[in-house]
Amino acid sequence: MDSTTPQGGILIVDDDPNSLVALRELLEGPGQSVILAESGEDALRHVLKQDFAVILLDVRMPGMDGFETARLIRERKRSRHTPIIFMTGALEDVHSQFRGYEAGAVDYITKPLVPQVLKSKIAVFLELYKINADLRREIAVRTRAEEHLRSSEENLRSLAAHLQSVREEEGTRIAREIHDDLGQALTGLKMDLAWVAKRLRADQKPLAEKAASMGRLIDDTVQMVRQIASRLRPAILDERGLTAAIWWQARDFRKRVGIRCEVSLPAEAPPIDAERSLAAFRVFQELLTNVARHANATRTDVALRVESGMLVLLVEDNGKGIDEAAAASPKSLGFMGMRERILPFGGKIEIAGTRDAGTRVRVTIPLGVK
Ligand SMILES: Nc1ncnc2c1ncn2[C@@H]1O[C@H](COP(=O)(O)OP(=O)(O)O)[C@@H](O)[C@H]1O
Ligand SMILES: [Mg+2]
Repeated sequence: MDSTTPQGGILIVDDDPNSLVALRELLEGPGQSVILAESGEDALRHVLKQDFAVILLDVRMPGMDGFETARLIRERKRSRHTPIIFMTGALEDVHSQFRGYEAGAVDYITKPLVPQVLKSKIAVFLELYKINADLRREIAVRTRAEEHLRSSEENLRSLAAHLQSVREEEGTRIAREIHDDLGQALTGLKMDLAWVAKRLRADQKPLAEKAASMGRLIDDTVQMVRQIASRLRPAILDERGLTAAIWWQARDFRKRVGIRCEVSLPAEAPPIDAERSLAAFRVFQELLTNVARHANATRTDVALRVESGMLVLLVEDNGKGIDEAAAASPKSLGFMGMRERILPFGGKIEIAGTRDAGTRVRVTIPLGVK
């Protein structure tokens, strides 16, 4: 840490010891430190070690004079902005004042010094230093708070991503179990039922009818199990890719929700990896759910294409039109989830709604390949 004190010190540089002592008497006070330097070299040593609120610098000194000293003080990073007041003889000409300003002086004061004038000039710089120090502290506090915020945002983001992938894995596992175990049990049941039905006598017609309806129920249940499993984890996505999965999902939507759903798909399968496929597919499902739940639409148009290295997914409906501000609000957890889902790939979602004319959502995901 630097040695910045709230009350910055004053550095006085003068080759005349009497003058140094007199100035210290004048400016030193409770809580106000004054450091004395008898030469330019001496002054430079001090400014390397400590910050000053103001430097009072004699122009005429043997060896390194005030101008040279000021120039070197300005070159040091630590003292680059420290205000320097030159002290000069009354007879100094305008030219040397110019040189002083060029060397980095902020003010001039002529000897013999008038104590009140000097004190009030110095007071201005001390006040300035204090304000600056306060500002620096405030900035440091804010920077820390911002860093804290940023890191907790990052943590939340990775937690969300983690939960998402845990959920997907869990879904895949449950889907497989439902499909395999439950599916097998139902097949067994169906076979047993067939066995029983075969052994019924011709005069047991009501039982035969019952067996037939049980058989239909088992078939429906098999269908249901398949649907539940594929909703948990659409096997088609892994087996036949995103395009097929979107087509399948749109058909399922049409059947289940009864809203027309036109699909335009690329002729060639997009060059997309499994993670991006899954993310795009989940976003697509979420968007269709929104259409079913909120849009009050009679028609949906879906388009998937690849445009300059980006996967573009468009979902439009002719419903009531989304309130764009509401969709952007942090309360719209659905959209927030969608954004988070594609964020790792640098993807984005654009939402546009026209009142009573419909909603258009455009999702883009960089493919990460040429
Ligand atoms: N296709 C749409 N048409 C009209 N409004 C929509 C549509 N999709 C979303 N919205 C509106 O945007 C809001 C936010 O959507 P979302 O973040 O998915 O949250 P949720 O579906 O859980 O309400 C919805 O509550 C709804 O008011
Ligand atoms: Mg939603």
